[in-house]
Amino acid sequence: MATRTTIDRLSEHVGQTVTLEGWVYNTRAQGKLLFIILRDGTGMTQCVLEKTDENLEQFQRARKLGQESSLTITGEARVDERSVGGHEVRIAELHVVQAAEGYPITPKAHGPEFLMNHRHLWFRSKRQWAILRIRSTIVDAIRRFYQDRGFVLIDSPLFAPSAGEGAQTLFEVDYFGDTVYMAQTGQLYLEAACMSHRKVYCFGPTFRAEKSKTRRHLTEFWMVEPEIAYADLDDVLQLAEDFVCAIIQRVLADHRPELEILERDVSALEKCVAPFHRMTYTEAAELLRSDRVASLLDEDLARAEARVAELKAEVDAREEERKQPGLKNWKADKLAQEILAAREELSEREDEVKNIPHHKQLAANFQWGTDLGGSDETIIARLHDRPVFVTHYPGACKAFYMKQNEQDERLVNNFDMLAPEGYGEVIGGSQREDDYETLVRKMEEEGLDREPYEWYLDLRRYGSVPHGGFGLGVERTVRWLCGLKHIRETIPYPRMMGRVYP
Ligand code: 4AD
Ligand code: MG
Repeated sequence: MATRTTIDRLSEHVGQTVTLEGWVYNTRAQGKLLFIILRDGTGMTQCVLEKTDENLEQFQRARKLGQESSLTITGEARVDERSVGGHEVRIAELHVVQAAEGYPITPKAHGPEFLMNHRHLWFRSKRQWAILRIRSTIVDAIRRFYQDRGFVLIDSPLFAPSAGEGAQTLFEVDYFGDTVYMAQTGQLYLEAACMSHRKVYCFGPTFRAEKSKTRRHLTEFWMVEPEIAYADLDDVLQLAEDFVCAIIQRVLADHRPELEILERDVSALEKCVAPFHRMTYTEAAELLRSDRVASLLDEDLARAEARVAELKAEVDAREEERKQPGLKNWKADKLAQEILAAREELSEREDEVKNIPHHKQLAANFQWGTDLGGSDETIIARLHDRPVFVTHYPGACKAFYMKQNEQDERLVNNFDMLAPEGYGEVIGGSQREDDYETLVRKMEEEGLDREPYEWYLDLRRYGSVPHGGFGLGVERTVRWLCGLKHIRETIPYPRMMGRVYP
């Protein structure tokens, strides 16, 4: 009797006859043997079919199976150190569920637009598979962290009557003739709930009409937001530090193979232990204007320029090679793939050559009082090997609800957490303004209509206490931990400006 199992459990069945259900990743014939790399959602393994007098027809059919054909295989599981996953299945029976032809994503290289249009198929690929598994674990780690610490889950609404994070990024919805907005945050609702349960969190999709195409912005992203009553900025920072450490530890513990597929430098993640670095906004501003940053960017520029020259030469050489007569097909494919990869990197490096002088100028001329820009955050984060908490921003460049600092009225008790290696802001948080008069004044300064916020002001009328929390973006976290250049690969179906398909 064959045991029905999955590839991740083959080690429990060595020497036994197993049945696997999966899809063809790859086939290769060698004499009398056909090697099928099968993937089944839990992993990949090599399956071998030997041609015999009895199975000629089956062998021929299997040989022609296209990539992503679905099939079940029955045979003996063996240990094979050399093959993927360390096992091999000797095929005794092979049943084709559906023979696929012309699968669009081939081992040849494809550009990002093509892959994004085929997102529904693309996430069968090894890297995408690894990323979404890690994402799933991060989401689980988030829930466990808060549940284990006695936080109560409070689901906040997705239709919101008013802005939570600035009017520029609101998506409007026609709500039976009234205009409402897709939620930018659940925070204000959580502030109310923490006065009931003390420690609460919400976790759900969040919407921002980001009108720019960047590597770190989505229009729909997932955010987890804890909120605690009787808490000041230090309490919130402590929670954020514990939280981020817990997520990293979990990913490192559960996903070494996936991180390896992604070629993630794991040592950089292992360095992210408490205590994280802390600096004030004012210190960050000084750092940005320092010689240290200027020379760092000069080095970056020189490196990027050198690499551009190198890549151009590489592309030219490959193009020449491609013109040679009698080029074998596999060689032409290989060259095409190499050229595409080199061109992709070339366009990135050329962007750097173009942008670095601009970033250098922005940093050198950084004005105290303005918010840190994306490039500023990247620079600060790159100078540290652990996450950095930047605290105490000028209130004028931050949201109305942040607590005004007691010693310096220009500042607020807030923080952003910047991830190392240049991944930038992953968390934004603060202590909240709990004084009624101050809050009303700040709302007036921002030109906010009071009416939709009356309920929010009630929280300052009835038993107001110091409280605070933060929001962590799931996709920014996935991007950082997986070491990805672009945020589009961190969510199953990314929504960005110019992208809502599939
Ligand atoms: O800094 P933000 O805007 O803070 C808030 O929304 C607060 N209400 C959170 C709170 O205190 N409860 O957003 C928090 C985090 C960012 O640090 C980032 O990780 C993520 O949400 N984020 C985005 N992720 C992807 N695409 C976007 N457009 C994002 N905007 C914010
Ligand atoms: Mg922010």
